[in-house]
Amino acid sequence: MKSYPLAKPEINNDDIEAVTKVLKSPYLSRGPMVMAFEKQFAKEIRVKYACALSSGTAGLIIALQALGVKTGDEVITVSFTVPATVNSIVAIGAIPIMVDIDLMTLGMCPNALKQAISKKTKAIIVVHAFGKAAQIDKLITIARENNITVIEDACEAIGNDYKGKPLGSLADIGVFAFYPNKQITTGEGGMLVTNDEVLHHQFELLRNHGRSMNGDLFDQISFGWNFRMSDINAALGLSQLNRIKQIVTRRQEIAADYHAILSQKNNISCPAFSVKEHNSAWFVYVIRLLNGDRDKLLFELQHLKIQCGRYFAPVHMQPYYRDKYPGLQLKNTELIANQCLALPFYPQLNKKDIVYICDKLVKSSQYVYFLLK
Ligand SMILES: Cc1ncc(COP(=O)(O)O)c(C=O)c1O
Repeated sequence: MKSYPLAKPEINNDDIEAVTKVLKSPYLSRGPMVMAFEKQFAKEIRVKYACALSSGTAGLIIALQALGVKTGDEVITVSFTVPATVNSIVAIGAIPIMVDIDLMTLGMCPNALKQAISKKTKAIIVVHAFGKAAQIDKLITIARENNITVIEDACEAIGNDYKGKPLGSLADIGVFAFYPNKQITTGEGGMLVTNDEVLHHQFELLRNHGRSMNGDLFDQISFGWNFRMSDINAALGLSQLNRIKQIVTRRQEIAADYHAILSQKNNISCPAFSVKEHNSAWFVYVIRLLNGDRDKLLFELQHLKIQCGRYFAPVHMQPYYRDKYPGLQLKNTELIANQCLALPFYPQLNKKDIVYICDKLVKSSQYVYFLLK
């Protein structure tokens, strides 16, 4: 029986050559590849500055610190995300205020944002869930009216835009991530982007022990971490970035193949292709089961070696956060989270694979439905 992982990176000969070249060079940590990757990334996202980091989480932490968010400040975000979005707020002693999503974009609901703003609100983190644009213009307008800064968590959104502008470039700061399940990978890694020179300078200090890139190597002028990206990772990232258009096109094709089959089924709701401004960067292909038991289906598919995922498991319902937010109910988040299922999704899948996966899925879901009746 063939097995299907949830995600799989695509590494080609150019990638291997690029990494090998660095291994033969004297620059294993910060070197010319980091700078080249940053330059190309800034061009791709159409921003002035890009700062390469060890992870997307590091990017979120640094972004908040560079904006001056401090202990006791409130940061509004969503629960429908990975733990990193919320953990980064906790990491710097600030208070995460998790609000609900809208059902069209699965991103932060503008009305929920309005209601959550308080005197303590310092920033908001908008997540483009699955690479699909949140209602970012409305959210930014509300934030500006209240003098609040905005971070776009675009970790899943490289290759997508909103009204012609790349996601990650619309707010004060954009954050990207390059774990191997992402559209492009560096193994582990992240990137911060901004058009603000002062913020960019802060990013550089914060990622490198508070040491300035231009000053004396041993002078520490502010607080900082070691959140640097190595030249080995950057070489892989740059090589992958060079074919980002191809990668996104391939992912669109796979999504379309899934869509062609699954959109015919009554009990499955597929990600929308029709809402142009809120189309996806196709980080994952997530369906919504309108009836039946999602977890049973997941279990059955796993037995058939088809790995699926509960994307996202809401943060406020996690054991670590549940006790800290007693009584917090997020209606749309909880509804969607109980129905969502991410299917195997990676460039190497062919049409035959997709027909096979869909066939098993449809048969299993009927079985589950039958069992429940
Ligand atoms: C929406 C979102 N935010 C943040 C992150 C964190 O990125 P990393 O795993 O590189 O720390 C991820 C990665 O999974 C993500 O998907």
